[in-house]
Amino acid sequence: MTTTQTRVTTADTRDMKTRGDKIVMMTAYDYPTARLVDEAGVDMILVGDTLGMVVLGYDSTLPVTMEDMIHHTKAAVRGAQHAMVVGDMPFMSYQTGWQDAMKNAARFLQETNCGAVKLEGGVRSAETVRKLVEAGIPVMGHIGLTPQSVNQVGGWKVQGKTPAAAVQLMHDAQALEQAGAFAIVLELVPAPLAALLTERVSVPTIGIGAGAGCDGQVQVFHDLLGMYDKFVPKHAGRYADIGAQIRDAVARYTADVKSGAFPTAKHSFKMDPEALAELSPRQQTAIERRHALGLDA
Ligand code: KIV
Repeated sequence: MTTTQTRVTTADTRDMKTRGDKIVMMTAYDYPTARLVDEAGVDMILVGDTLGMVVLGYDSTLPVTMEDMIHHTKAAVRGAQHAMVVGDMPFMSYQTGWQDAMKNAARFLQETNCGAVKLEGGVRSAETVRKLVEAGIPVMGHIGLTPQSVNQVGGWKVQGKTPAAAVQLMHDAQALEQAGAFAIVLELVPAPLAALLTERVSVPTIGIGAGAGCDGQVQVFHDLLGMYDKFVPKHAGRYADIGAQIRDAVARYTADVKSGAFPTAKHSFKMDPEALAELSPRQQTAIERRHALGLDA
């Protein structure tokens, strides 16, 4: 983490790689969460399209739209003071050609004020990355397991395990580097291969399920804090069980409301007893009569 109070920049992340300082990225999808993770000191906040699964309840990231991403990225940017916020380009917002990619990446920067965009794919996305970077849009690449292609790769599987697949990943990383990506997410890549890729490219690698040899790590907020138990990936760090705490707190609140133990006087507001006395049925009728005769004015 840098020590200044200004926002982390792409140049900062490159300097961190040079110094060997680990880069910490975490997902956040709304204002309070972005504020909390920013205050905790992460370097980058990813408004990932995992939004679709952990917040919107879909089975994959594919149904997430540009409107969803813009809405949530705006909220996260409002919450973050220090971290660079990266907006994740959703399925079909860039695969249909660089012109669409340009239009949608520009929407992220102009409408949400985020600092960069992320998109999936190595060699196949390199030309699009180049066009965006030439237009002044910082781009983070994403290779290895690319969840938007989950139907093509046949599930959430570790990538690059055979020599041919490992060489392809190397080409992907180098294509992104040459196209001007400022950092590359490596998802579900064997640790020794991720370490090798990290050595071979000049830009920072950010790993998720890619071992400790990457320049940084990214985790999904809901995985790290135990708030999404539909699918817990092996690579998810678990630092708290907030889901259990939420269930417990809400169950106690429910029991207290049902029993009458909540709210107490502490949670209620007083009223002047004389004003209250005026609401006795007799007084109330007199007040209403005075009103009707216009005698209050
Ligand atoms: O969408 C996301 O949260 C991601 C991370 C898993 C890297 O792409």
